[in-house]
Amino acid sequence: MKILVTGAAGFIGANFVYYELGKHDDEIVGLDALTYAGNLETLEVALQNPRFKFVKADITDRTAMDALFAEEKFDVVVNFAAESHVDRSIENPEIFLMTNIIGTQVLMDAAKKYAVGRFHQVSTDEVYGDLPLNRPDLLFTEETPIKTSSPYSSSKASADLLVGAYARTYGFPATISRCSNNYGPYQFPEKLIPLMIANCLANKQLPVYGEGLNVRDWLYVEDHCKAIDLIIRKGKVGEVYNIGGHNEMTNIDIVKLILNALDKPESLITYVTDRKGHDLRYAIDPTKVGKELGWAPETMFADGIKITIEWYLNNRDWWGKIVSGEYTQYYDKMYANR
Ligand code: NAD
Ligand code: DAU
Repeated sequence: MKILVTGAAGFIGANFVYYELGKHDDEIVGLDALTYAGNLETLEVALQNPRFKFVKADITDRTAMDALFAEEKFDVVVNFAAESHVDRSIENPEIFLMTNIIGTQVLMDAAKKYAVGRFHQVSTDEVYGDLPLNRPDLLFTEETPIKTSSPYSSSKASADLLVGAYARTYGFPATISRCSNNYGPYQFPEKLIPLMIANCLANKQLPVYGEGLNVRDWLYVEDHCKAIDLIIRKGKVGEVYNIGGHNEMTNIDIVKLILNALDKPESLITYVTDRKGHDLRYAIDPTKVGKELGWAPETMFADGIKITIEWYLNNRDWWGKIVSGEYTQYYDKMYANR
């Protein structure tokens, strides 16, 4: 098979490339526009594999996508490419609509024209909005109504609706997965876990939004990749699959765990003004993907976070460059006077 992986130089896309190259004999074309979030260094090892090729391109570029699909004749497309950070979407929604909605449509048009056998859209549990903190019995199922909070989640939900429309209207062979918060190697340090690790190591303040009581359902990135691998091979066309780790934690507990692991004082914690429209709690019911495809999370949080912290300790070069470039301006703007 030949698989197109978009967003291949980002966090989950790159982890997926490595998972697929290790698990199967397929040819992989990794595509990425190399925005601030894409890092070709992440794919350094993959680039030495003759079954992997990298293409720098923008998924909103219709001409480029048409030419690429005409030439490569993909069997499967897995669309990870997206603007992915909620805080950035609050500051500047437009690029989220362009990449996440129009980009998905452009890709689907190319996939439809060149008869790609399967199009998988990587979506998020954020399309379901949030759950109350005092109702631990409530979980997101695939039937939970779409009800978004941020420009980011609205753009992802819009893309999901378009994918569903293409499936129904044109018989387009699509699947969608909606996953909870991922963590692991190669995550951009603007996101909670790598940001807190990087700040700890620099003895910088750890900005916790609000009271730190919001809850996320954390999943080790490789477990997410395994689920997507199963869906593109065995999942049913037209279906949505929720993916989650049954691992709910408050933000403050995560931050304290990282402080503890790195032997840093809790005095580094700074409570800052809350995120606008901040979702309270995410929690996924992954029963369907378990029953239909035999998927279950394999990495316990205690192990996954240990591996992740070790990875950031051993790969300071990778993230050190990132936190010194454009990111510095972003960080100052996002966190100043907060
Ligand atoms: P990321 O920001 O690390 O990576 C996104 C990648 O997409 C980057 O490499 C970027 O350069 C690329 N990209 C952006 N715009 C592009 C464009 N126009 N054309 C081509 N490439 C472009 O994000 P991530 O955390 O790896 O997320 C990947 C996907 O998974 C996203 O669709 C996101 O919505 C979804 N998701 C993420 C999580 C999570 O916890 N990180 C959870 C559920 C779903
Ligand atoms: O649930 C899946 C989603 O998870 C994905 O779709 C998104 O792409 C991904 O970014 C993530 O969204 P979150 O908003 O949950 O992740 P983030 O790491 O930005 O924040 C996690 C929690 O930590 C959230 O409650 C906000 C809080 N937070 C975040 C940052 C960056 C802080 O308290 N301080 C911070 O500095």
